[in-house]
Amino acid sequence: MPNYQGKYLSLAVFLALLVLPSSCNGNSVPNREAKALLKWKESFGNQSIFQSWVTPATANATTQSPCRWRGVTCNNAGNVIAINLAYTGLKGTIENLDFSSFPNLLRLDLKVNQLTGKIPSNIGLLSKLQFLDLSTNSLNSRLPLSLANLTLVYELDISRNNITGELDPSLFPDANSRSKTGLMSLKNFLLQDTLLSGRIPNEIGNLKHLSLLALDGSHFCGPIPPSLGNLSSLTVLQLSSLQLSGNIPVSFGTLRKLNILYLHINHLSGFVPEELGNLSSLVVLHLAENNFSGNLPSEVCGGGKLVNFSASFNNFSGPIPKSLKNCKTLYRVRLEYNQLTGNIAQDFGVYPNLTYIDLSYNKLSGELSPNWGECRNLTLLKAAGNMIGGKIPDEITQLNQLIELDLSSNQLSGIIPTQVGKLSKLLSLSLKDNKLSGPIPVGIGGLSNLESLDLSTNMLTGPIPYQLGDCSKLRDLRLNENGLNSTIPYQIGNLVALQDLLDLSYNSLSGEIPLQLGKLTSLESLNLSHNNLSGKVPSSFSNLWSLVAVNLSYNNLEGPLPNSNFFRSAQPEAFSNNKDLCGERQGLKPCNATFTENGGNDKRKIVIIVVASLASISILLMVCIWILSFLRYRSVNQSKVEGRANRENLFSIWQFNGKFMYKDILEATKNFDETCCIGVGGFAKVYKAEMPDGQVFAIKKLSSHTDIEMQLVKSFKNEVAALTELRHRNIVKLYGFCSERRHLFLVYEFMERGSLAKILSNDVGAKELDWTKRIQIIKGVAHALSYMHHDCVPPIIHRDISSKNVLLSSELEARVSDFGTARLLNPDSSNWTEVAGTYGYVAPELAYSMAVTEKCDVYSFGVLALEVLTGNHPGELISYLHSSPDQRIGLADVLDPRLSSPVEQQSEDGLSFMLNLAILCFNPNPQSRPTMRSVSQQLEVGCFW
Ligand SMILES: *[C@@H]1O[C@H](CO)[C@@H](O)[C@H](O)[C@H]1NC(C)=O
Ligand SMILES: *[C@@H]1O[C@H](CO)[C@@H](O)[C@H](O)[C@H]1NC(C)=O
Ligand SMILES: *[C@@H]1O[C@H](CO)[C@@H](O)[C@H](O)[C@H]1NC(C)=O
Ligand SMILES: *[C@@H]1O[C@H](CO)[C@@H](O)[C@H](O)[C@H]1NC(C)=O
Ligand SMILES: *[C@@H]1O[C@H](CO)[C@@H](O)[C@H](O)[C@H]1NC(C)=O
Repeated sequence: MPNYQGKYLSLAVFLALLVLPSSCNGNSVPNREAKALLKWKESFGNQSIFQSWVTPATANATTQSPCRWRGVTCNNAGNVIAINLAYTGLKGTIENLDFSSFPNLLRLDLKVNQLTGKIPSNIGLLSKLQFLDLSTNSLNSRLPLSLANLTLVYELDISRNNITGELDPSLFPDANSRSKTGLMSLKNFLLQDTLLSGRIPNEIGNLKHLSLLALDGSHFCGPIPPSLGNLSSLTVLQLSSLQLSGNIPVSFGTLRKLNILYLHINHLSGFVPEELGNLSSLVVLHLAENNFSGNLPSEVCGGGKLVNFSASFNNFSGPIPKSLKNCKTLYRVRLEYNQLTGNIAQDFGVYPNLTYIDLSYNKLSGELSPNWGECRNLTLLKAAGNMIGGKIPDEITQLNQLIELDLSSNQLSGIIPTQVGKLSKLLSLSLKDNKLSGPIPVGIGGLSNLESLDLSTNMLTGPIPYQLGDCSKLRDLRLNENGLNSTIPYQIGNLVALQDLLDLSYNSLSGEIPLQLGKLTSLESLNLSHNNLSGKVPSSFSNLWSLVAVNLSYNNLEGPLPNSNFFRSAQPEAFSNNKDLCGERQGLKPCNATFTENGGNDKRKIVIIVVASLASISILLMVCIWILSFLRYRSVNQSKVEGRANRENLFSIWQFNGKFMYKDILEATKNFDETCCIGVGGFAKVYKAEMPDGQVFAIKKLSSHTDIEMQLVKSFKNEVAALTELRHRNIVKLYGFCSERRHLFLVYEFMERGSLAKILSNDVGAKELDWTKRIQIIKGVAHALSYMHHDCVPPIIHRDISSKNVLLSSELEARVSDFGTARLLNPDSSNWTEVAGTYGYVAPELAYSMAVTEKCDVYSFGVLALEVLTGNHPGELISYLHSSPDQRIGLADVLDPRLSSPVEQQSEDGLSFMLNLAILCFNPNPQSRPTMRSVSQQLEVGCFW
């Protein structure tokens, strides 16, 4: 309010001066500030932000004073007191801004832009400055010592830049005094031209009014200056992700107002001073990823306000501090990977708001207290790798928000709680490497979201409950090294999402292997060794297309091995020590080799057999020759262009459990009539086919010409090869493919709602996609890409992620489609190819290098995620947004205006988290982009530091 009044008042005064006889020389007030600003503007070229900044000569009464310019604020006297151009996409330097012209400046806010170059050393002339925020730019500078002059500054944020401190004075004794002779000494060279990491200048301790000091994410090294302890008004101190070393200064104990202290990810060492316990206002304390030793500060929650505490990945030893036990405010706690000791039952209390606690890999002993059941909001509980004994308390099954439970590698005994199935949100359960006994509870089938289950290396007995077959999302199942007996329930074959590993080895399982296991077509590794399994290896195992490792050794299996390339080429050890396995492969005896087995006593018999075999072989040979010449004759008559497509000349259907025929498809699409066409793409048309039995498919037809161009065949084969190896709930299902001389087509799952691009482009559709659905869509695409990049061997790069290639199911779930340009990323082959992809989504590096990596997909994903948030392709916004991770971009400015803003705080947090993740993903530097796996994991767990 006062600001507005001020502005209008100053304008009025100004106009009055204009109207009055020019006794005060009003028209040509020598406006140093305007001149300095215009000079700065000139250095930017033509950027629209500065449209309102015009020279007095061309200005009229309304724009003459800089006080009316965008981002400039004046006081009543017409002096510039604030320059605020945060988030404006400013691209340039501040080296040309003459700070000496702004003696009244109070605020300078240029955060989140693309500023480069140095911070001018005369910044120290802004002697009234109170607020300086240059964070999230690319400033490449030493921190000017003159900053120490700005004694009135209360907020100083230069985080996320390429700023460094002063050189270590002991290395360069006179580093700060220029050589009188003017010779470029080594020191001066270093000072002027390169940015070796430097120290945080001790002089910062002069800024007595500082309330916020953020230097994180730049390039400071060396010790933390003890003078920071003088900043008694500090509430926020961010020194994370630097290369700081040495101890935490004892003087920090005087920072009584400190709420937030970030020291994580540095090389700090030594004991954490007890004096930190004096910080009675602490809400957030991050000490993780340093080399601290000794005890955790005993009064860490002395003020009773601590919410977020991390000390993981250090060498802390000794007991859990008493003050933590009663710290009811805790929300997140990370203490993993230390040497902490003590009794876990006695040292922890009840934390009603706790959502995340990781105590893994310490030396905690005692038993798990039933109290953990009272921490009702826990989503993650990990205490792996300790010495915890006793039983798993039944109360733990009350944690109905739990997503991850890991108690592995302890000394837990007794049974698995029978009610474990109540943990219905659980994604990951690991109890491996304990001394658990008794049966696997039948209720485990209630874990309908479970993706990973590891009960290996225990003393579990009894049968594998068939209810396990209800955990339909399991990707990884390990029950090995127990005493499980009886047969393998055939329902295990329903776990079609199994992918990483099915390990039932080292048990006492008996009976035949259920042929239903052949349905596990995504499974990569199967271990059934060291059991008492008998009978044949089911021939359905030849359907296990994804297998890369198998072990069936040490059983009583017999008969032929399945007829598939994988089984033909697997190592013989995988089948050793069985009753009577045979197959056409080294290390096994061939099947049907009855005569060698019957011994060689009867020579006549052998002669007869040999003669008979020779005769039949020659007949076979003649038949083959005849067939070959016939085929050759035919193929000469056929179109000469067929090339390699010829091999799939017959209709092939994979993965499809109903029966349908080529003819049915022709009928269902009325012989590919235009009325059935639902989409046209670069190389293909898509048809909707309603089969006689009511099923609906999308048929993607690549060409109907007799002459199939090689390009098409290539694209077709790429798609087939990539897709048949992909099985994921966020990837469009491929049921079958057909390569017939006149038609090349793929049979897909039909996606009722069409593409994301289509639905976002109309207002009704956009409104239907509320924030919850949009978040799910982004997550779905992230999971699909993570799967392609990190779970496929070799990894698959999509290359053309865009909103056109993300389809939606009837429940508006995302399914990634169109792998026309995808190619198996074979590490041996070159990844340099022509640019593929959709304009506006293609990563910038492809414009000059053409090196296709997973990071190109990450870029396109970032664009897509932003598009889902904003409602249309974010084109210009992307050039505006800077690449660095940033928490503070205006959410309201970007969200799709067709939706009302998110109601709950929760979902607003989620959206800004997503926004920041998207921004990280389209970082221009591929190396700085996260991997899809980490994106996918972060989206799932939603843990932010
Ligand atoms: C004077 O300023 C107003 C408001 O900015 C603008 O619309 C108008 O075009 C300007 N006139 C001239 C001559 O610059
Ligand atoms: C510090 O401020 C004083 C006046 O307030 C000024 O004379 C001096 O040049 C400044 N020093 C630096 C290094 O900017
Ligand atoms: C940071 O500065 C160093 C030294 O000048 C330079 O090598 C590096 O590329 C810069 N990094 C960024 C992100 O600007
Ligand atoms: C738990 O969280 C709620 C909501 O954030 C807060 O109001 C309450 O004070 C917290 N409880 C404790 C014991 O800190
Ligand atoms: C647990 O979380 C819910 C929502 O996530 C929240 O409403 C509730 O206040 C939390 N419980 C406590 C005890 O804070």
